[in-house]
Formats: sequence, structure tokens, C-alpha cells
Amino acid sequence: MDTARIEEVVGDFVHLKKRGTSLIGNCPFHGEKTPSFHVSVTKGIYKCFGCGKGGDSVRFIMDHEKYSYPEALKFLANKYNIEVQETELTPQDAEAQSAKESLYIVSQFAAAFFVKQLWETDEGKSIGLSYFKERGFREDILKKFEVGYSPDVWDAMTQSAVSAGHKLEFLESTGLSIKNDNGKIYDRFRGRVMFPIHNFTGRIIGFGGRTLKTDKNVPKYVNSPESEIYHKSNVLYGLFHAKKAIRDSDNCYLAEGYADVLSVHQAGIENVVASSGTSLTVEQIKLIGRFTQNITILFDGDAAGIKASLRGLDMILEEGLNVKIVSFPDGHDPDSYMHHVGAGAFKTYLEQNRKDFILYKANVLLKDAGNDPIKRAGIIRDIVESIAKIPDPIKASVFVRESSSLLEIEERILMSELNKMRSNKVKKNFESNQRANNNTSNQNTFSSGAPEPLGPPDDLWDDTAGPSGQQSAAENDENQEKEIVRLLLAYGHEFVNWDNIDDMYIGPFIMQNLADVEFENALCKKIIDHYKTEIDKGRLPTANHFIKHEERDIADLAITLSTSEYALSENWLNKHLIYVKDESMNLKATVLGGIFHLKKRKVDKILTNLLKEIKEEKDTDNQMILMQRYGVIKGVEREISKFLGSVIVK
Ligand code: CTP
Ligand code: MN
Repeated sequence: MDTARIEEVVGDFVHLKKRGTSLIGNCPFHGEKTPSFHVSVTKGIYKCFGCGKGGDSVRFIMDHEKYSYPEALKFLANKYNIEVQETELTPQDAEAQSAKESLYIVSQFAAAFFVKQLWETDEGKSIGLSYFKERGFREDILKKFEVGYSPDVWDAMTQSAVSAGHKLEFLESTGLSIKNDNGKIYDRFRGRVMFPIHNFTGRIIGFGGRTLKTDKNVPKYVNSPESEIYHKSNVLYGLFHAKKAIRDSDNCYLAEGYADVLSVHQAGIENVVASSGTSLTVEQIKLIGRFTQNITILFDGDAAGIKASLRGLDMILEEGLNVKIVSFPDGHDPDSYMHHVGAGAFKTYLEQNRKDFILYKANVLLKDAGNDPIKRAGIIRDIVESIAKIPDPIKASVFVRESSSLLEIEERILMSELNKMRSNKVKKNFESNQRANNNTSNQNTFSSGAPEPLGPPDDLWDDTAGPSGQQSAAENDENQEKEIVRLLLAYGHEFVNWDNIDDMYIGPFIMQNLADVEFENALCKKIIDHYKTEIDKGRLPTANHFIKHEERDIADLAITLSTSEYALSENWLNKHLIYVKDESMNLKATVLGGIFHLKKRKVDKILTNLLKEIKEEKDTDNQMILMQRYGVIKGVEREISKFLGSVIVK
């Protein structure tokens, strides 16, 4: 427990930043874009103030990797090279464990075999090693990445493995050995230089083998297939060697190939990984996100290729990461450019040529469009679409400003385009939800002429919550009620003058509008009742009134809501896909949104209950009455949704 330092263990999964005496980051247990996950180095514990999860290093690994206690201990032991002495395993455990373990072991064996071939055999030295030398790779880099050579023989590796006591079964499941139709066994990799692929704890899980032949009919790379230990979509080449540097420099360079990773390393830049030629997956982005929020893409080659890959990068924005781009002159890739200009110049080049992705994209597209107005309009849409993917509204608004000057178009117009896109997205989600709900309705007994039943109440608004971040309906209710309390505390005493609404203070305005709403959270209800009493007495309470309240739970909530004001409001904005620079600048939307959002939830609840009643009602006359009532309330619900859809773009 002393060795497994909390900041290191958590740090492998969460990008932590220093704040005061503790470290903070985005909680890995629930979807969040603003950090509420705290690590105390001195206490050796973590605690998320968002979802409440907390514990020590072992608990973290158990929760995060879904491990049992012993599995978590073994994981940590492996990380810190501490030997664990097993006493006894059940036969099933032993078998399952040893099967998977065996795949690691044969992979490790093969890697060592290839390394030995490269450095110690005539064929390896004269073909493999001389190839690397010719390309300018240093020995220490080749050794660090454990590159090797597979001899140009049918079954050299397989033979060697079998005679060392490894089972064919495992050689086959890793794909290192292949059995043909006649039952003959041969090596997958022959006459190739070998790049072993490590998982992020450093174990070898697969290989990429590059041919040295120039024959166009020979595939340049042969790769290990997916296996029990190798899942391509969540592996990044080089991550094991890069992770420390990624964390230290708070940036991850992303290249395309094995050669690029080696060359960039050789230039002294160790925070580099490769997607290995396939298109980037969300899992890979999340993997990087554990270490840093900043990705710098090292783009290969020609303009056409770059344009084609731009679209794929929106995915990174969607994950909330910052994306920068470096491209290279004259069709160079990072590898060729490094060897062309040398380590020092290469390093400087990377530092001086990073451009922000969105602005880079705008530039590339603008160059293409020239003065064609239709093309230019398309670009604007394209750029706004990318900006719309950025979950952080503040960041997004910065891009709006910068793109506006680049595209020579008014910021206001971009902003409204952005909001339109956002609200379309809301609408689309809504419609598809409706469709999904209607589909389920077909299975209901009263499908003909019946009102369209509603799905689970938390439909449209919770679409941004990831699977791990899904909140229960009750929690959502509670959050909405808390949001109202927060608005009361933050803005209740502000005097406003909104069109169509009489001049008034926000506090009483909220209270009036929610007069018919029953608060369910006991604490919120207590505060709301208290607020009402004060207003009735002609007083307008401020946040301080509640913060200093003698009742401990009232004071606590008031403090939480006042201190987490920003986080909460940002969450709220994310949830509703609203773009405003600052909620106080768009108080009307914020307040009306809060009020009607809560109303909608209450109405949804009524509808769900009605639906249940309708199903249970045996008497058809009564059922008709209930259905009519349902229809009326559904109409109210639609109005509220429509209103929410329109208020957010104003
Ligand atoms: N790749 C692959 N199969 C191919 C070609 C490429 O799996 N037939 C993957 C490899 O992971 C490779 C990456 O795509 O590393 C990038 O391809 P490329 O740039 O062609 O390879 P490099 O590794 O840069 O090889 P080199 O510089 O030696 O040509
Ligand atoms: Mn290359």
C-alpha cells in the first residue's frame, strides 16, 4: 500500500491537475466535463464530489477495472514489480488465468526470439538491422521498442517456441502461428522487421511486421489478429513508452505509423503514439484522455489526404479534448521529416507549427474554396459543425470568435448558426426518441386511437449522459430541483426587465411560476418553503441568508450550490446543449429553462403514471376518460418542449 501511491495509480487513468493541496481531475466513474474528482496525496485517497465514489488505491482499481480485491492487488503488484506468492487457486481459476497468461507468455517469447534474430544472427543483422541503420534509427531506440526480425523461413519461430515448451494452442490463438488446411503449421511473420505492440502496462500483446521487399504484391505490413489479449480498437502503439512523457508535458502527439513513433522518440520527443494506420477510435481517444486533454496530430503527407482525415477529428472534439495539428512540407511524414532535418530542427518545427485544429481546418478549406460564395457558405457550416462538437461552451465561444475573424463573418451570425445546429440536434434526438416510444407503443393493448405513450420519463434531455454517467430519474429530479434553488440563491434578488414579462425580481418570478409544483427533495422543499415565507413577509432573501442558516443541512446545500455554481450551471448548459457565453448574460434563458425543465419533468411523471393507470384500468369507459386526460396533458408536455426548444436559441 505504501508503494502503490494514490496519485500514480489514479494518474494512470485520470488526468490529474494540481489544485491547492489536492489533485483534481474528471471523475472516471461518471461522465463529467468539469472536474469534481479529488485525490489527496497525503491521505492516500480519492473522492468524487460528483458521484460520491471514494477510497484508496486498491478500491480505485477494483472500481475502475471491475476487479475483485485479489485481482486488484495483483494488478498493482504487477505495476510495481512486486512478486505475489500464490497459495492456491481453484482449478477453474487456474485454467482461465493461465490461458490468458499463456498468450502473454508466448507473445513475450516471440518478441525475444525476434530481437535475438535481429541482433545475433547473420540474416537478421545483414537484412533487418542494416535496414534500420540505413533509415537512420539509433540502436538505443531499436532496443527500447524491442524491435526484431523474423527470418524468412516457414516456421522458425513456431519451431523454436515449441521446443522451448510452449503450446501450439496458444501460439495459434495469438495468431503468431497459423495452421493451414493440411494441418501444417507455419509462422505468420516471415522475412519481416518486427514491431511488438505493448499494452499500457508494458506487456506484449501483438505485432506489426514490415516487409523489406519492394514487391508491390507483398503487403507492406502484416499484423497480429485480434485475440484474447489484443483488442486493436483500444490499443495505441507506443503508449507504454509515452505515457509518462504525455502526462509530464500535458500533450500527446499522435502519428500514423510505427516508424513515426520511433523517429519522434529519437528526436527526444517521447510523448508520441500511433493509431497504427487504422482510423482513430473513441476508445483510443479516451485512452489518451486518461493522461492529457491535449492531442497534437502529426499529419502525414498530401493535402487531399489531410482534407479526408479532417472530418474524423471532430470525434476528438466531442470527447472534450483539445486538438492541434502539425503538418509537414513536401509530402513528408514525421519519420521522413525527422531524418531529413535532424532532431533539433524537428523539435523546433513541432513547437512552431502547431495550429489549432478548427482554425487549421478553416484555413485548409478556405484555400480550397477561393472566392466561390457557395463553397464559402459550406465552409462556415462545416466549421460551425465542428465547433458544435465541443462540449465546453466557453471554449466553443472562443472558437466562434476566432473563426469569425478568419472567415470574415460576424460572430453573432456564427453563434446563431451554432445554436441552430444545437437545437436541431435536440430536436432530432427528441424525434428519434418519440419514434422509439411509438415503437414500443405498438406492443400496447390500446394502440388504436390511443394517445402516444411516453417512454421512460428521462428521454430527450439526458442524451449527453454516457453509459457510466447515467443518472437515475430520481437523481435527475433532485438535480432539477437543486438547479431552481441555485437560481434563487444566485439571482433571486436581481431585478429584470424582460420583454413580455412585467419588470420584477427573479426570485418572486420563479416562485410564481412554480407555485403549482410540488418539490420532492425534502431539503429543496424546505428551502423553497422558507423562501416563500420570506417573500410573503415582504423580504427578498439572498444567498447569504441561507449560507449562514442555523439549520446545518440548509447551510450545507446553500454552500454547495453557491460554490459549485459554475460547475452546476455548466452541466446544465451541456445537458441542454445551449450555447451562451455566460449564463448571467442570458439570464432569461437560464431562468426560464430551469423553470420549464422542472415543469416538463413533473408533467412527464404525471404522464407515466397515467399510462400505468390506463393499462391497469379494466373498465373501458374509465379508460377512455383517462386517455382523454392523457391527451390533454401530453399537449401541455409538447408545449413545454416546444418552449424549451425555442428559449435556448434566444
Ligand atoms: N499499416 C498496416 N498495413 C499496411 C500499411 C500500413 O497495418 N499495409 C499501418 C502500420 O501500423 C503502419 C501505419 O499503418 O505503421 C502507417 O502506415 P505507413 O505510413 O505506410 O507505415 P510506416 O510505419 O510509416 O512505414 P514506413 O515509414 O516504414 O514505410
Ligand atoms: Mn512512414
